[in-house]
Amino acid sequence: METNLKSLIRDIPDFPKKGITYKDITPLLLDPEAMKTAVDRFIENLPDVKIHKVVGIESRGFFFATLLAEKLNAGFIPVRKPGKLPHHTHSEDYDLEYGTDTLEIHEDAINKGENVLLHDDVLATGGTAAATCKLIERGGGKIVHCNFLVELEFLEGKRKLENYDVSSLIKYS
Ligand code: PRP
Ligand code: MG
Repeated sequence: METNLKSLIRDIPDFPKKGITYKDITPLLLDPEAMKTAVDRFIENLPDVKIHKVVGIESRGFFFATLLAEKLNAGFIPVRKPGKLPHHTHSEDYDLEYGTDTLEIHEDAINKGENVLLHDDVLATGGTAAATCKLIERGGGKIVHCNFLVELEFLEGKRKLENYDVSSLIKYS
């Protein structure tokens, strides 16, 4: 029987601050069968086009993005928080609940016209993913799909990604 992925997501109340319920994916990461199921389902949901690069967003997006890149025979690109990438970067600011943050990508990571898959663990308000889409497009990439392990549908993050093909494996409405 296929592993029930949702049963392996743990709710942590009031983390990282009061009033927020954190979706902890670490029980799923501990379960090799669940990891395999998740990778298979990510792959099943992809469009039937060659994917040249998989972009994973620091830090929790890295867990599955590298596995997907290996499966797809694609390159992996880390999008990182500011000051972590050593070579020339494009940067993009995005809004948080309070204040702003920045994400960066290496300028030479994507070749013009390459098909790119964006991956992150959670789609919440969509700010992180939307900023990453801008970075990918500034690098000349074509975003063919965005996938997420968890989607918090009530935060309507998909609205910020309305120009893209989006899928998620576990939804909370
Ligand atoms: C979390 C999560 C997503 C993002 C989703 O990352 O891993 O990347 O928030 O939020 P949004 O859709 O509202 O933008 P976080 O910034 O907490 O960092 P981490 O992955 O390093 O833990
Ligand atoms: Mg993150």
